[in-house]
Amino acid sequence: MAASPARAYAPYSIAGQVVLITGASAGIGEACAWRFAAEGCKLVLVARRQGRLEALKAALQQHYSVAVHTVCMDVRDLPAIERLPQELPPEFQAYAGGAGYCPSKHAVEAFANAARHDLVGTNIRVTSIQPGAVKTEFSVVRFKGDEARADAVYEGFQPLSADDIADNVLYAATRPLHVQVASMLVFASYQSSAKGFARVLKNQ
Ligand SMILES: NC(=O)c1ccc[n+]([C@@H]2O[C@H](COP(=O)([O-])OP(=O)(O)OC[C@H]3O[C@@H](n4cnc5c(N)ncnc54)[C@H](OP(=O)(O)O)[C@@H]3O)[C@@H](O)[C@H]2O)c1
Repeated sequence: MAASPARAYAPYSIAGQVVLITGASAGIGEACAWRFAAEGCKLVLVARRQGRLEALKAALQQHYSVAVHTVCMDVRDLPAIERLPQELPPEFQAYAGGAGYCPSKHAVEAFANAARHDLVGTNIRVTSIQPGAVKTEFSVVRFKGDEARADAVYEGFQPLSADDIADNVLYAATRPLHVQVASMLVFASYQSSAKGFARVLKNQ
């Protein structure tokens, strides 16, 4: 039997769409900003450090001709979150979804599952991405600036990068509209659980 030719699979084009990214001033959020800018999306970047957001906006606009709007906001400020959709400039008006920050990853997963139930039958897809060990400012912030302690988290194995997770986010967003990636659990290769690591590269 003759081999069948490779069949084309058309991803969903997100060019020109509005993408709201929380935690955009560093780490995974910043990496997502770069990937979605490369796709030609209009970006709404949210974080507390306005200076970082403005520097990122300038860098993105230097590389890509995309519209970028920055919002200096603490995501724990619920009234500010409720006001945000109305306060966006007209060209950035969109359904404002996006991630919240929450002490419990189980709560995030429960929220995503509940949102998926509530939104079933609409054109809104809900994806929960659960990263393993990603080397960002996350550990430095967690250990209050103690860089040595933060570095020790990633000792002996190659951690994920923010770009790896941005790639997962972009993958989920660009599936054809009938495909909903509900959940992705992504570990570093030498990681088997939240705390399970093979630190075999330690002395190499
Ligand atoms: N890194 C990992 O290993 C890992 C693993 C699993 C899950 N995660 C989750 O992935 C998300 C991003 O982590 P990351 O590694 O990219 O961390 P990161 O490098 O520390 O970046 C965190 C981002 O969130 C912003 N942020 C923090 N608190 C905020 C608040 N109250 N209001 C608004 N913005 C706030 C920070 O900016 P400002 O300080 O400017 O506000 C920054 O842009 C977090 O929810 C984290 O729990 C990370």
